[in-house]
Amino acid sequence: MSRIRLKDGFRKLSMSERRRAFRDALELTDEELATDAAFADLADVMTESSVGIMPVPMGIAGGFLIDGERYDVPLATEEPSVVAAATYAARIISRAGGFTTRADAPVMTAQVFLEPRSAEQSVGELSARRDRLEAVAREELASMEARGGGFHALRISEVPQTALTKIEIDADVRNAMGANLLNTVAERLKSEAEQLGGGTGFIGILSNAARARRAHAEFTVPVSRLGRSGVGGPEVARRIELASRLADSDQDRAVTHNKGVMNGITALAVATANDTRAIEAAAHAWAGREHGYRSLTRFTVDGDALRGTIELPLAFATVGGAVGFHPNAQRALKLLGYPDAPTLSRIAAAVGLAQNFAAVYALVSEGIQPGHMRLHAARVAYAAGARGDHVREVGRQLWESGEISTEAAKRILANVEDDTEQRPSEENR
Ligand code: MEV
Repeated sequence: MSRIRLKDGFRKLSMSERRRAFRDALELTDEELATDAAFADLADVMTESSVGIMPVPMGIAGGFLIDGERYDVPLATEEPSVVAAATYAARIISRAGGFTTRADAPVMTAQVFLEPRSAEQSVGELSARRDRLEAVAREELASMEARGGGFHALRISEVPQTALTKIEIDADVRNAMGANLLNTVAERLKSEAEQLGGGTGFIGILSNAARARRAHAEFTVPVSRLGRSGVGGPEVARRIELASRLADSDQDRAVTHNKGVMNGITALAVATANDTRAIEAAAHAWAGREHGYRSLTRFTVDGDALRGTIELPLAFATVGGAVGFHPNAQRALKLLGYPDAPTLSRIAAAVGLAQNFAAVYALVSEGIQPGHMRLHAARVAYAAGARGDHVREVGRQLWESGEISTEAAKRILANVEDDTEQRPSEENR
């Protein structure tokens, strides 16, 4: 099929005109288009040239015991098994005492880069004006200071490979992600530094590295509780520890291992409308901070217990941007009791650790395919036309038949539909 080209000037149309043009170009029915009509206005104010929404299911990973508090955690993801795996891990860990977590103060860094006008123009000259730069930064951060956050530090250095001058401003952004505020600070300092003769302003923007805004989670579980698929608990624990060392030694394995961590963290970020790309970029940069790319988690066997730990930057926000705006994000936060940003980051760390534990636990025992295939069967049933209660029923029969194909799903669906049609008449007899 050839690519579809939307008509010129598409982005200048109104939302309803765009949706009609989109419908016509893709030959959709009104019914197909109507499913997301309720969100059309929301889409229109959230992105440019919008034509609708892309619904991602949100599930609840229930029963996380975190620092003595119980949380049911909303996770939005397109991947089957993520919610089930998190729930499974949360149950095992919570029965063994739960997660212990902590989070740093929400400090983010803005960066300003300047091109020195001459080879002689040095960092030292700008450093002599640092009081003025700091005063400007404090002024821009005054409203954040009134909320208990604000200015923390200012550093001036050189980026040797480029000879660019770098100014970094650390600020506590409280419950915000900090991008808007720190981008404003960076732009203001860029022009101020230029006026002070620090060079030609080049780039002013926050850094997503968020190295100072880390969250940590850990748990211990008695190894005796880890027996699975005919493998004894101590042996499963030994394998989990070995898998952890493997992810610290083999970079390609580390990428997949950490992908499992992010299955949980990104799903919580989507559910709360946080910036998934910022969170992921920071996590992977953290994983590569030392010699090569390594695991974000660690599992060790300590006597009769398996200990799991995670630490990584987690710039989760609970106000501002789409978080404060999107109705579903607000529902997700309500479910969590409207946590502040450090609390949401602690929950995210626990979810990432649980998700990774569930994946590695399955990998070293029964493998992950059995769990995945059950939900895959339900998806095949849906694709074959099953709807409502029939989806799970056809999926179940498909899974039990061992032949997971669209043809098999259609056959089973026809039988299930026949049975449903016959049932009322039998009851009437
Ligand atoms: C799949 O989405 C995630 C896993 O591949 C993670 C891992 O291999 O550790 C199962």
